[in-house]
Amino acid sequence: QHPTEQWRPKVHFSPQKNWTNDPNGMIYFKGYYHLFFQHNPKGNEWGNMSWGHARSKDLLHWEELPVAIPNGKEYIFSGCVVWDKYHASGLGNPQKDLLIAIYTADYPYTREEQHLAFSNDDGLTWTKYEGNPVLNINYKDFRDPNIFWHEESKQFIMAVAKPFEYKISFYGSKNLIKWELLSEFGKQGDVGMIWECPSLQYLPIEGSTQKKWVLFVSSQGPYKDYVGMQYFIGDFDGKKFTNENDEDTKLYVDFGKDFYAAVPFSNAPKNQNVWLGWMLSWKYAKEQPTFPWKGQMSLARKLSLVESNQGLRLQQKFVPDFDRMAPSFEASNFVVKDSKFKQISGMKFLKDKTYAVDVKISGSKSHFSGLLIKGKANEQEWIKIGFDEKTMKWKIDRSHSGKIISDFFDGLQVAPAVDGMPKNFKVVIDRSTVELLAQNGTVAISALRFPLDIEENVYLISEGGNTQIQQIKIWELK
Ligand code: FRU
Repeated sequence: QHPTEQWRPKVHFSPQKNWTNDPNGMIYFKGYYHLFFQHNPKGNEWGNMSWGHARSKDLLHWEELPVAIPNGKEYIFSGCVVWDKYHASGLGNPQKDLLIAIYTADYPYTREEQHLAFSNDDGLTWTKYEGNPVLNINYKDFRDPNIFWHEESKQFIMAVAKPFEYKISFYGSKNLIKWELLSEFGKQGDVGMIWECPSLQYLPIEGSTQKKWVLFVSSQGPYKDYVGMQYFIGDFDGKKFTNENDEDTKLYVDFGKDFYAAVPFSNAPKNQNVWLGWMLSWKYAKEQPTFPWKGQMSLARKLSLVESNQGLRLQQKFVPDFDRMAPSFEASNFVVKDSKFKQISGMKFLKDKTYAVDVKISGSKSHFSGLLIKGKANEQEWIKIGFDEKTMKWKIDRSHSGKIISDFFDGLQVAPAVDGMPKNFKVVIDRSTVELLAQNGTVAISALRFPLDIEENVYLISEGGNTQIQQIKIWELK
C-alpha cells in the first residue's frame, strides 16, 4: 500500500486509481445513486477525459464500475444523465429503461459541442448516438450541459455555459435530440472568473410551502483569484431565468478552496435536491500529493433555501443526516475558558481520522471559538475550525495542517457569518478532507489538508474570551 493511502477519504468517493475532476451525470435510479466523473483512465493527471463510473446505495459506500464513456478523438467533458421515461428520444430498446447522457464533446483547442449517448442497462454501458452533435453553435468554449424535465412547459430544459462571456444559455427540447434556444442569462453577480458547470434547480424554502428557482454556476481558474461557486435566486418561466436580486449581488455556495463543479442528482428520492462537488481546486489540483489517484468528491448535501436577516440564503445539509445516528460522544452546557484547550474527555485520541463533530455555541466573547485538531506525536501540526465573534467570520486555518502542497494552498479560509442564523456548526473530517457547514448550513467552507501525523487529538478552544457551549456531539465513522 502506498503511504499516501493514509490521505484517502473513507466515506467520500475517490477513484481507486488515476485522476478525477468534476462529478458528472449524477442520477438516482433503481436504488442506486450513480456518479459519473471526469476521469483519465490512463494516468494520474488530467487527460484522455472520459466518464468514470461509481454507484452507491447510501452516498457513503461507493462501488467503482468500469469506465462508462471513453474518449475518442473527442474528450468527454462534463454533462448530465436523465431518465427518458417515455422514450421521447426513440433511441435504444423500447422495452427497456432508457438513460440519456448529454455531455460536452471537446475537440481540444477547436470546438465544444453537446453530444448524446444512451444506455439500456441502467448506466453500465453506453452507446454514442450516431447523429451527434445534438447541439453545436461552432463555439470553442460552450460546455457542461445540465438538464431537467420542466413539467409546466412540458419540455426538457438544458442550462449550458459560455464560460468566457459569463453567460448561461437555456435550451428547450421535447425529445432530447433537437434543441431550441430559449434565452440567455449572465454578466451578473461575480464575473471575475469564467463560468462553467451550471445547474438550474427548484428549491424549497424552509418553513414554507413555497419554492424558488436557483441558478448555480462554478467559476474558477488556475491563475487568477479564486471565486468558487455562486448562485442566483429568482424565477424561471419555462423560457427565461430572472434574478430577483440586483445585478451586483454576489452569493457564494462555499468559501473554501476545495468545492467545485457541484451539480444535482437527477430523479433523487422524494424530489429532493441533493448534490456533491469535486473536492479540490484547479489552483493546485496537479499538486495533490497522492498516488495512485488524484481528486475526490465532497459528501452529498441536501439543498434548500432559508430566510435570514439578509434575505434568502442557500442551506446545505450533509446527507446522510448524522443527527439520526447515535453519537460516540456527547456533552452539554459547559464553558470553554479563554486560552484553555479543553480536552474532550473520552475522545482522547481518535482511532482513525474519520469523524463528524457538531457544536452548538450559545455565547461567545472570543475571536476563535471552535475546534483545534492537533497531531498526537507532532503538536506543531494542527488545523483550527471555528467562529470569530469579533469579526463575525467563520474560519478554517490549515496553515499548519501538514504538507503545504503549493503557494496557492491558502492557509486561511474565511466566510462571513449570516445574520439571523444560530451559531452552530457541523464539520466532517475524513482524513484529508474537511467540510464545515455552519449556521444551519448557510455557511460552507470545504478544505483539504495533508497531515503527516497518523493520530490526532481534538480539543475545544476559545481565544480572547470565553465560549459557552450548549452541546457537542462527535460521531466516529466506521
Ligand atoms: C470544470 C471543467 C468543465 C469541463 C471539465 C473538463 O472543472 O473545466 O468546464 O467540462 O472541467 O475536465
